[in-house]
Amino acid sequence: MPDKKTYYITTPIYYPSGNMHIGHTYTTVAADTMKRFKRLTGYDAYMLTGTDEHGQKIEKKAAEANVTPKAYVDEIVRNTKALWQLMEVEYDDFIRTTDERHIRIVQQIFRRFYEQGDIYKSKYEGLYCTPCESFWTATQVVEKDGVKCCPDCGRPVEITQEESYFFRMSKYQDWLIEYIEQHPDFIQPQKRANEMLSNFLKPGLQDLCVSRTSVKWGVPVDFDPEHSVYVWIDALSNYITALGYGTDHDELFRKYWPADVHLVGKEIVRFHTIYWPIMLHALGLPLPRQVFAHGWLLFGNDKMSKSKGNVVYPQPIVERYGADALRYYLMREMPFGADGNYTNEAFLTRLNSDLANDLGNLISRTVAMIEKYFGGAVQAPQALEPIDETLKEHTLALPALVEKQMNELQFSLALQEIWKVVGECNKYIDETAPWILGRTEEGKGRLSTVLYMLAECARFAAVLIGPFMPRTPQRIFEQLGVNDPALMTWESLSGFGKLPEGTMVCKGEALFPRIDIKKDLAALNGEDEPAAEKKPEKKPEKKAEKPQQAEKKAPEVPEGCVTIDQFEKLSFRTAKVLACKKVEKSDKLLQFSLDLGTEQRTVLSGIAKAYPDPEQLIGKTLVLFANLAPRKIMGTLSQGMLLSALDEKTGALRLLTVDDADSVAPGSEIG
Ligand code: MSP
Repeated sequence: MPDKKTYYITTPIYYPSGNMHIGHTYTTVAADTMKRFKRLTGYDAYMLTGTDEHGQKIEKKAAEANVTPKAYVDEIVRNTKALWQLMEVEYDDFIRTTDERHIRIVQQIFRRFYEQGDIYKSKYEGLYCTPCESFWTATQVVEKDGVKCCPDCGRPVEITQEESYFFRMSKYQDWLIEYIEQHPDFIQPQKRANEMLSNFLKPGLQDLCVSRTSVKWGVPVDFDPEHSVYVWIDALSNYITALGYGTDHDELFRKYWPADVHLVGKEIVRFHTIYWPIMLHALGLPLPRQVFAHGWLLFGNDKMSKSKGNVVYPQPIVERYGADALRYYLMREMPFGADGNYTNEAFLTRLNSDLANDLGNLISRTVAMIEKYFGGAVQAPQALEPIDETLKEHTLALPALVEKQMNELQFSLALQEIWKVVGECNKYIDETAPWILGRTEEGKGRLSTVLYMLAECARFAAVLIGPFMPRTPQRIFEQLGVNDPALMTWESLSGFGKLPEGTMVCKGEALFPRIDIKKDLAALNGEDEPAAEKKPEKKPEKKAEKPQQAEKKAPEVPEGCVTIDQFEKLSFRTAKVLACKKVEKSDKLLQFSLDLGTEQRTVLSGIAKAYPDPEQLIGKTLVLFANLAPRKIMGTLSQGMLLSALDEKTGALRLLTVDDADSVAPGSEIG
C-alpha cells in the first residue's frame, strides 16, 4: 500500500504569562478540527502546539509572583495541557521552548546564521515593546499624550540601548517579495499578503536585532553567552525543532516538513510571513505551504487578551454544556479570517437553535418514529420518490462540499453545508408527514422509505461532524444502532444506503437539551474563574456585561458626533444580491439573499413599496451595514442592514449601489 499523504498543522506557541483563554482555545480547536478532518479523509496528519516560555514578559511576571521563571511557566503549562484535554484537543506533540531538545537546536541555528554571515554584531539603540516582544524605530512608534507607544498594541515602548547581533533581513527582501507574489496561497487571507507587501516589504526591510544582553531568561548564544537569542527567533524555530530538525533523529522532520499550514492570529502574521520565511530560506529549507491568519475573538469591542484582563475562560462553559457545544460554536460563529464577538448569549442561542433544535430534534424524531412505527427496526426503503431523490442527492454531495470548504479552512461554511442538509431533513419530515403515513397499512410502506432516508442522512451527519465535535458522533451512532466501524468512516459516505435493514435504533438522552437562555445566562455570568486558576486577573463576565462602563471613559465628543474609534467598529461591506422576494403577509418587507464572498446572509429590508419588482435587484451590488446585531423580523433572522437614500420631500427611496461592481469581490470592506 502506498504511504498515506502527510498533513502537518501547527498553532502558535502561546506565552504562558497567564492561563489560556477562549482566544487561544479558538486557534487550538481550529487546528485540532483540521487535523481530525485530515485523519478522517485518509491523511497521516500531525498537529503541534506548545508554549513560548522565554523573554522579558515572563521574566517580569515570575518576579512579580516571586518565583523562578521556570516554576512560573511549569504551572501554566500544566493548566494549558489540562485545558486542551478538556477541549478534546488531540495534539501529537507539545513543544516548550525551555525543552532541552529545542534550546540546543536554536543555538545551532543561530550559530549557523552567524557563520554564514547572515548575522553580524553591532550596537542597538531603539525602542522595545515588552508585551509584544517587538523592536520599533522612532518613525514606527505612535505618540499618545507625549508617550511613545507600540503601533501594534498601543502600550508604551521602552528605550533600549545595547550591543546586539543583527540579522541581515534586507538581503532577502527581493527574494521574499517575489516568493509571495508567485505563491498566492502562501499567505491567507490574501489581504494579509497585501498588507505585508505594502507595509513592510516594499518600503524596505530593516536589519533585525536578534539578541539581547539585558534579557537573562532566554536561550544563550553559545559562542557569546552574554547574549540571549531574540524570543521570536527562538519561538519560530519550534516548528522544526519539535520535528527533530538538526538532530540524528530527524525522521519526523523528513516526513512532515514543510508544514501544510501554520495557523496564527492576525497580529503575528508579520513574524510568520517575513522573519520565519527568511530564516528558513537562510537555512536552505522549504517554506510552509501556507500561513493562515484568523481574526480575533473580541470581547465587547476589544481584543481579548491576558494583559488587558478582559478574558473569557472556556472551563465554566464546558463544565455546563460539554466541549462539543463550545467547539461547534467557535467553529461556526465567525468566518475563519474575520473578527467576531464572543458573548454568552450568542453561544446559548446557537446551542438552542443549531444543536438542540436542528440536530438534536432530527435524531430524536427519527429514532422515536422508528421505535413507534417499526418496533425500533430500520426498514428497507421502497422505490424512491422525487423528494427522496433530492434529499439523497444533496446528502451524497455533502462530503465533497465539506471537503472543499475545509481545504480552504472555512470551518463555518463547512458546518453551514452540513446544517443545510440537517435543515432539509427536518423539512422533509414536515413535508412527508410520517404521522399521517403511520395511520394506514399502505402508508407504512412509504413510511419505511421516509424513515430509512432520515436514518441514513443522520448517519452521514454524524460522520461529518466528527472533526468538529469529537464526542457527538458516537452518541448519535448509539441511538441509530450503528456499531460497525465501517459505517463510521469517510469512505462509507461514498454511497447512500449502506445502513443495513434491521438495524435496531435505541432512543437515548437528548443530545443537547434545550435550555432556558435567560436562566443559563445568569448562571454563566455568575461564573468567572476556571477551576485551575487561583487568581483571576479580573472578573471577565462582569466587564462583558457592561461595556458601556468602559465607554464612559472615552474622550468627550460633540453631541451627535462619533469618534473615529467608534466609527471603525462599524463594518460596511459590499453584498451581491442572489435572490430577492417580497415577504408574505407584509407590504413593506423585502427578503434578500446576499453573497458576501465567504458567506451568504439573509437580510430583510422595509423597502418593498419602492421596489415593486424585487427581482430587478438580483445581481446588483449593494452596501450592507454588516455588523449590526442580527434581529428576527416576522420569524426570519435578518443579518445586517442595507443602506438606502431617502428623499424626505418626495419620499423616494433608493438603495445604494457600488460603482463598477465587477471590479470588487462581494464582501469587500467599505471605508
Ligand atoms: N508566543 C507568541 C507566538 C509565537 S509563535 C512562534 C504569541 N503568543 S500569545 O500567547 O500571545 O498567543 C497569540 C495567539 O493566540 C494568537 O495569534 C491567536 O492564535 C491566539 N489568540 C490569543 N487571543 C486571541 C483572541 N482574542 N482571538 C483569537 N485568537 C487569539 O503571540
